[in-house]
This record gives sequence, structure tokens and C-alpha cells, in this order.
Amino acid sequence: MKKTSLDMQNKVHQQITEYKQVVASDSYRLHYHIMPPVGLLNDPNGLVYFRGKYHVFYQWNPFETSHGAKFWGHYTSDDLVHWEEAEIALAPDSWYDKNGCYSGSAVIHNEKMYVFYTGNVKDEDGNRSSYQCLAISEDGFTFEKKGPVIHVPDGFTAHYRDPKVFHHQNKWYMVLGAQTEQEKGVTVLYSSSDLERWQFHGPFAGSGLNGLGDFGYMWECPDLIEINGKNVLLVCPQGLLARGFAFQNIFQSGYFGGQVDFDSLSFKHGDFVELDRGFDFYAPQTMRDEKGRTILFGWMGNAEEADVIQPTVKHHWIHALTIPRELEWKNENLYQHPVEELQQLRLNEVYYPDVKFNDDAGISLSDIKGNVFELLVEVTYIQATDFSIEIGASLRISYNAKEKVFTFEREKLNQSKAFESRHCHLEQLNSIHVYKDASSIEIFINDGAVVFSSRVFDASNSEEITFKVNGHIQANVTKWDLKRVTC
Ligand code: FRU
Repeated sequence: MKKTSLDMQNKVHQQITEYKQVVASDSYRLHYHIMPPVGLLNDPNGLVYFRGKYHVFYQWNPFETSHGAKFWGHYTSDDLVHWEEAEIALAPDSWYDKNGCYSGSAVIHNEKMYVFYTGNVKDEDGNRSSYQCLAISEDGFTFEKKGPVIHVPDGFTAHYRDPKVFHHQNKWYMVLGAQTEQEKGVTVLYSSSDLERWQFHGPFAGSGLNGLGDFGYMWECPDLIEINGKNVLLVCPQGLLARGFAFQNIFQSGYFGGQVDFDSLSFKHGDFVELDRGFDFYAPQTMRDEKGRTILFGWMGNAEEADVIQPTVKHHWIHALTIPRELEWKNENLYQHPVEELQQLRLNEVYYPDVKFNDDAGISLSDIKGNVFELLVEVTYIQATDFSIEIGASLRISYNAKEKVFTFEREKLNQSKAFESRHCHLEQLNSIHVYKDASSIEIFINDGAVVFSSRVFDASNSEEITFKVNGHIQANVTKWDLKRVTC
């Protein structure tokens, strides 16, 4: 049993203190998103509601803005809006996690918080070993490491990680991301009655299973949830080739909806659907809160290869989490809704009912502008071939009603002034709900049926929002400024 050493805590404190001002002086710093105090943040981990507080842990390299030996950073909140930074939860200071306390999850059992994570270990030649580890906390803030509870079984490589534990009918289950020796990405399943001894049940879903063809060389961060009577496996397959508008990022994140048979431990599922169509989204995780909601946070980032040109690096931080989103299963689809608590952030409402745009080459509405805001456009009538909203000098969202294509464009991060785009097919446009922060945008289309999340770095300081229409469109337009709640 081992607690994080004071020495390690002091080193992290020193790092935060040293760079506090530099991070704070960054105009790209976010106002209401979880971001690292310093260094690199990636996956959300251990999402759990415990003793009146939401706990969000995250993959954290406090010492660099690159990936490395990860810690579990920790924030808590009473309301999913105001976050308080807590002491590091896990540090990579044991033989079984010395190169990183990798992603994992938390559950509450006997009034204690049990966290499961992957211990990542590399030898001098760079050979990897992985251990699924347990740490227990009585108060939700200090953890005692219990060490490995699962070793990699025969038939799998050391890419074996990201335990997500859940409870179903008096039993604990764990899904894990894995790679077979044949380099196929799969999710494996375990069960347990005491959270300490785990029984292996083999692959549960993956490349070449349940009627699925070749589907990537590694599956990361699985999460199996039940929502409105449906079982949904959220997972991040690596190695899918771009196809039309799909799979445009280096790594993908999406879900399979279906039905689990807990007697035979099998999963019949439909097709893979991408969770987010933007540039920066990966490794989401969900939690069930005390109100029975399923709440998702994602990492607003993607593969390491895309990191180097982000301007926040000069200010010693990189990446952030998405806003919390409540999941709903309807029309055979997963919908994502910004949690209602975020309405606390709203200030200065501006409302234009039934605005008529008729062949406008560029119109702005007074007081509909800003850099940190929420914007809701509810379409009441559309007979347009093209409808677009330009935000500042580096963002454009548009819908082509003839082609039935929704497009998101942002200025490339390499300061070249060139734009890059992501698209998706959309039969009909009903609403666009935008959450813009200083350097991010999350767009919820048609009540969250489709979402685009991206980081955006606009050096122009422009706060203009311009509507352009080719044809006719009528819409209710509402805009709020959003309060700053991060320090
Ligand atoms: C996903 C991931 C996980 C791993 C973690 C390491 O982004 O690669 O599979 O546990 O990040 O930080």
C-alpha cells in the first residue's frame, strides 16, 4: 500500500507555482472548460459522483507540454460548472506504473472510491508492459495504491489498457481496450464480485467480431453504458482509414448501439457511429450521476502528431476537456446535450425572434458578437441553398441545403491563414447550438444529434459574427455571453 510521496507533490506544486502567471497571461486560456494548471492534459479519467461532489480526474503531464509519464490530476465540483483543483490523485512512482498512471475509471463500493487504471512500464529498450491496477480512497482525495489486479493474458500485446468498471445485477464488470497478437483492436471483458479478483471472459467486441470486419489495430478507452434500455459501447479505434466524410482525424472516437446478453456475455450491435465530427475530440468517458443522468466528458485533443503547432505551448499548457454533456438515446442515435447547469454561465441575453434572412451576403445582428459566448439558432423556415455563420476571422460553419452537407471550417493551426474543414451529411437543419470559449468551439446540431468540437486560435481579436444566406431562412437567434469560472 502506497500513498503519493510528499516529494512528488512538492515537485508538482513548484511546477504550478512557477508557471501560474505564464499560463494566466495566455489570451487563449479557457474561461469555463477544464484545462491543466500547467503542462499537458489528455483523457478524462475516473468520472464519479461521491459524497455530494463530481470528481473529474484527468491524464496529466505537469512537467511538459508533451506526452510522458502521466499523473492523474484531479478537479471536483458541486455543480459541473465551478471546478476546484485538488491534490494529484496518482503519481507514476511505483514499479508497476513508473512510465505513467494511464487512463481508467472509478466506482464507489462500501463508501470508498475504487479507481482502476493502467500502469504503463517501459524497460531500457523501450519494451512496454501493462498492468491493470487498483487504488482505493476513503475520502475521494488521497489514494492508497494496491498494485496490479490484472496481468496481460496470452494472445494479447502490451497495448492492454484503460479499464472502465461498472455494476450490473450484483456483479462488477470491466471493459478494457486491447490489441490481439494478430494486431486487431478489441474490447475485452472481465467480471468480479469483490473488485479485487477478476475473471477474464475474452474479447467482447472488436475487429473481426460480432459481424464486424477489420476495424483497426487497437481499441482504446472503451466504456459500456446502458441508456434508455439500450447498451452502448463507446470506444476509440485506431487505424481506420478515412472514408468520404468519415474518420478524418488520426484516431477515431465513436459508439456501437446494441444489446448485451449478460448470461452469454455477448453483444449484438449495429454500425459504428462517430461521436463527434470536429478536429479535436477523443477518449471520452461517462459517469452516472445521482440524478440518473449519463454525463460525458471528452478530451478536446487527438493524436500526438497534431500537437506541435498549438500556440498555448508557449504558455506552458496544452489541451482541455469538453464541456459536460448529458447523453440521451433516441431515434437509434446517441444525442449529446450540454448539461443544464451550464445555463448558470449565461449573461446578457440577446434574443431575436424570427429573423428573416433573404439572400444576405453578410449581415450581423447588433450585440450578436463575442469571443466567449453561447449562441442558439433555431431554424423555423429554410429555403436556402447555403447558410453560413462566420465567427471572428478563423471560424465558419455552414449548411448547404441542396447538397445536405454541414461544414465546419477553421483556420489551420500553423498560422498559414489557410483553412481546413470537416463535413457531415445532414438531411435537415433544425438548430445550431454553439458553445464558444476563448480557444475552443463545440457545435451541437439538431439538439445534439451531431456534434463538432475543435480548438481554434484566432489571432485577429475579431468578435464579429456574420450570417450569410443564399436563399431564405427564418430563425430565432439567441446569444449569451458566458461567465469566466476558471481562475
Ligand atoms: C488515449 C490514451 C489511452 C492511455 C492514455 C495515456 O488518449 O492513449 O489509451 O491510457 O491515453 O495518456
